[in-house]
Amino acid sequence: MEKKIIVANWKANKTREEAKAWVDVFSAAAFPSKPIQVVICPPVVHLFEVYRQLKTASFPFPVTVGVQNLSPYPGGTYTGEVTASMVRGVATHVILGHSERRQWFSETPQQVALAVDQALEHQITPIVSVDRTNWRLQLAQFDDQTIRQILLMYEPPEAISEQIGPIGRGQTADLTDIEDMIGLLSKAYGNTRVLYGGSVKSANVKPFLESALVSGVVVGTASMEVHEFIRLISQV
Ligand code: PGA
Repeated sequence: MEKKIIVANWKANKTREEAKAWVDVFSAAAFPSKPIQVVICPPVVHLFEVYRQLKTASFPFPVTVGVQNLSPYPGGTYTGEVTASMVRGVATHVILGHSERRQWFSETPQQVALAVDQALEHQITPIVSVDRTNWRLQLAQFDDQTIRQILLMYEPPEAISEQIGPIGRGQTADLTDIEDMIGLLSKAYGNTRVLYGGSVKSANVKPFLESALVSGVVVGTASMEVHEFIRLISQV
């Protein structure tokens, strides 16, 4: 059975101390072995510290770190950018084209495609977020071979937890909608791996992960409180 991927997206939350306290509790939790991989995506400023801290703990399944964005550029005179080469060997995954970035930072499909190329060049698996209205446009830059190397994330913007920002309305998608969307993506691109994101929590995660079509989940709000995230993992 393919491992289900559980991604924690902390978004722009947590001080250095809060990040450390979260990892302390997470590392001390007694997890049984499960067919999962957990990817923790802290704000990039905490990436290396979280990585080092996790390295000293042991888990019965892979726990890696990822980033929430990467530069479309390889490096150079791009003030403020974090490039794939800077996090190579540490970040296993990168979330790209999140609806919050498309909306608040005006990211275009072209920029997302360039960042995907950068990530792949540095052996970082891109998780590319799409929605039902715009997925054709959002994925138009990719050929079939690239699509097969990336993880897609289906996240209806209205499904994002409302307490985080003005995009979300906390309307979790139902499994029929998610499976239907995965069907559309598979029809267009063949065998794709698709994660679901949008108000996933310990109370509703089970059916998503039990679906043979869903490769995993991206968890925002429910990953920020460590006990809730531990509870969520326990549902698998
Ligand atoms: P949410 O966010 O779980 O808080 O809805 C998920 C995401 O947008 O990554």
